[in-house]
Amino acid sequence: MGVFDFLYQDIAIDLGTVNTLVYVRGRGIVLNQPSIIAFNRTTGAVVAIGSSAERMFEKTHSNISVVKPLADGVIADYEAAEALIRGFMREIQKKFSIGIRRMVVGIPSGITEVEKRAVRDSAEHAGAREVYLVSEPMAAAIGLELDIDAPFGNMIVDIGGGTSDIAVISLSGVATGESIRVAGNEITNAILEHFRRVYNLAIGEKTAEEIKKKIGSAAELEEELIVTVKGRNLVTSLPERRDAISEPINQIINAIKRCLEKVPPELSADVLDRGIMLTGGGALIKELDKRIGKETKLSGSEKLWKI
Ligand SMILES: Nc1ncnc2c1ncn2[C@@H]1O[C@H](COP(=O)(O)OP(=O)(O)OP(=O)(O)O)[C@@H](O)[C@H]1O
Ligand SMILES: [Mg+2]
Repeated sequence: MGVFDFLYQDIAIDLGTVNTLVYVRGRGIVLNQPSIIAFNRTTGAVVAIGSSAERMFEKTHSNISVVKPLADGVIADYEAAEALIRGFMREIQKKFSIGIRRMVVGIPSGITEVEKRAVRDSAEHAGAREVYLVSEPMAAAIGLELDIDAPFGNMIVDIGGGTSDIAVISLSGVATGESIRVAGNEITNAILEHFRRVYNLAIGEKTAEEIKKKIGSAAELEEELIVTVKGRNLVTSLPERRDAISEPINQIINAIKRCLEKVPPELSADVLDRGIMLTGGGALIKELDKRIGKETKLSGSEKLWKI
């Protein structure tokens, strides 16, 4: 600690498979952009990061490579991840004229020591002097302002792009957890696959993602939704009825059920009483909250929150 402390800020970063968020103490969330980076293939120079790199995705010419450095919640391309964090840090430092001393980074709860090391190294190489890792369900619980220190069980389900993290938190620790590498992206892939198999139609990832958001559902919908893909009218809740996305959704629900079975008896009453806190973009798929409520018998959607 020294006289120039005011020039430094503590920040927190959620380096997600799909989206990266950065929080600066006292300023709130200052960045929310896709975890994507574009390089010049010849020189290796960074051409764009975040939203501007996303616009190049699936549209690039041969001299630009667009990379998603994270897969399944963990760093898949170390150099690209480091460049991405550095790029975001630079944007923030420039915008707010601050240096970064301490950095908290969210990590999926199921990650290995090697994977943790990769996150820590990337953050340090990108310029953070002190790096702290926090499990994402714990971060979500703190964000929800739950009383995590109390001897009560709170169940958090974070369905992101790459991982679904399920944890019962009590006394500032994870009492029971499950983490599977099946989340929103797998649902998108299932849609891609469905279109290839059933309609013999090759669609891009972006299109599959749009279809998912418009008509994807974890249970049958009362009213059928329609989406137009390359000039064809397709009706759904079909992906669910025709099993297009039921596989990944069932895997997520089964993981939640498995976790519920493992909850120690002294905490299970709390979970039954409070319900499940759902978070993450993948949790936004239609009817998922109701379906989880039904399958876990946690008496319906009023016990489920979406953020
Ligand atoms: N309205 C929506 N309906 C369905 N899925 C959605 C919706 N909005 C976002 N998603 C999905 O949410 C996922 C991204 O969520 P989120 O930003 O929480 O992931 P992440 O934190 O980057 O990933 P992870 O935590 O797994 O590393 C994507 O798969 C995206 O398609
Ligand atoms: Mg996430």
